[in-house]
Amino acid sequence: MSGYRAVMDFVLADGGRIPAIGIGTWPMNDNEAERAVADAIALGYRLVDTAFAYGNETGVGRGIAVSGLPRDELFITTKFNKDSHSVHGVAHAWQDSVHKLGVDYVDLMLIHWPVPQLGRFVEAWEGLLTIQGQGKVRHIGVSNFLPEHLEPIIAATGVAPVLNQLQITPRYQQAEARAYNTALGIHTQAWSPLGQGTGLLDIAIIGKLADKYGITRGQVVLAWDLCQGMSAIPKSSHRGRLVENLAATSIVFEQDDIDALSAIDASEPDIKHPNSFGH
Ligand SMILES: NC(=O)c1ccc[n+]([C@@H]2O[C@H](COP(=O)([O-])OP(=O)(O)OC[C@H]3O[C@@H](n4cnc5c(N)ncnc54)[C@H](OP(=O)(O)O)[C@@H]3O)[C@@H](O)[C@H]2O)c1
Repeated sequence: MSGYRAVMDFVLADGGRIPAIGIGTWPMNDNEAERAVADAIALGYRLVDTAFAYGNETGVGRGIAVSGLPRDELFITTKFNKDSHSVHGVAHAWQDSVHKLGVDYVDLMLIHWPVPQLGRFVEAWEGLLTIQGQGKVRHIGVSNFLPEHLEPIIAATGVAPVLNQLQITPRYQQAEARAYNTALGIHTQAWSPLGQGTGLLDIAIIGKLADKYGITRGQVVLAWDLCQGMSAIPKSSHRGRLVENLAATSIVFEQDDIDALSAIDASEPDIKHPNSFGH
């Protein structure tokens, strides 16, 4: 029987590496983020996901400082809003984020949403290329970009993002967008991987697989991401769940079980489509 082992990290198209599991920090406020990020780092997390929109970059930065971890051992992702969709706007957003985070570079900066109605996500991408050229960010990417949004930024600049962060669960798999990412060498990262507490983990097949492998329901879903080559950024403010989510990196799934879980596609109750949602 073929098996797929979840991994500790993934290689990006630019040669960098990204941890397979990170801590998501929405909807934490500054105080909650400080405590959870410090806890997560102490427990072994090396990837922290935040954004301007979460309003918690100051708390995330405090948590990082409290951890005492050398900066180069941590991978920090942040994102900017539509108001920064210009070359000047991205430079300003970077300045604001590093100031709040208390760092002098960001590992990964993302366009949070394409907001196609505004029509300026190509300028936002040019802004990211500019700050990367200045050594201010190690890697640049996008979030919530479908193929129709990726095509224009690549056509305009000749450069593809290294990562696309998408809403993905076994109930909402975005197969077309993931296949497009893969074809272009773009790493797919799952946001709200646990379904944001909307009942995903109550589905029978997830309980069945948890029993079979002797793992938790959350770990089943995270291992499903990892075994298919996606990283994931589950949010938890609790030490026990932080430990549990990170340990998903050690699970080996049989292909039949990945397929059984994939069979629940097309039932996610709260889908945020980038052509009608975004900030
Ligand atoms: N790029 C984007 O547009 C975008 C959009 C939304 C979110 N995100 C990012 O993705 C991250 C994760 O998404 P999310 O917070 O929306 O949803 P999620 O990670 O799917 O779910 C978080 C919920 O699951 C609970 N939970 C965590 N671990 C669990 C476990 N092992 N078993 C059972 N329940 C568990 C958490 O509760 P406790 O805290 O009580 O453990 C919380 O209520 C965010 O924090 C943010 O960083 C990105």
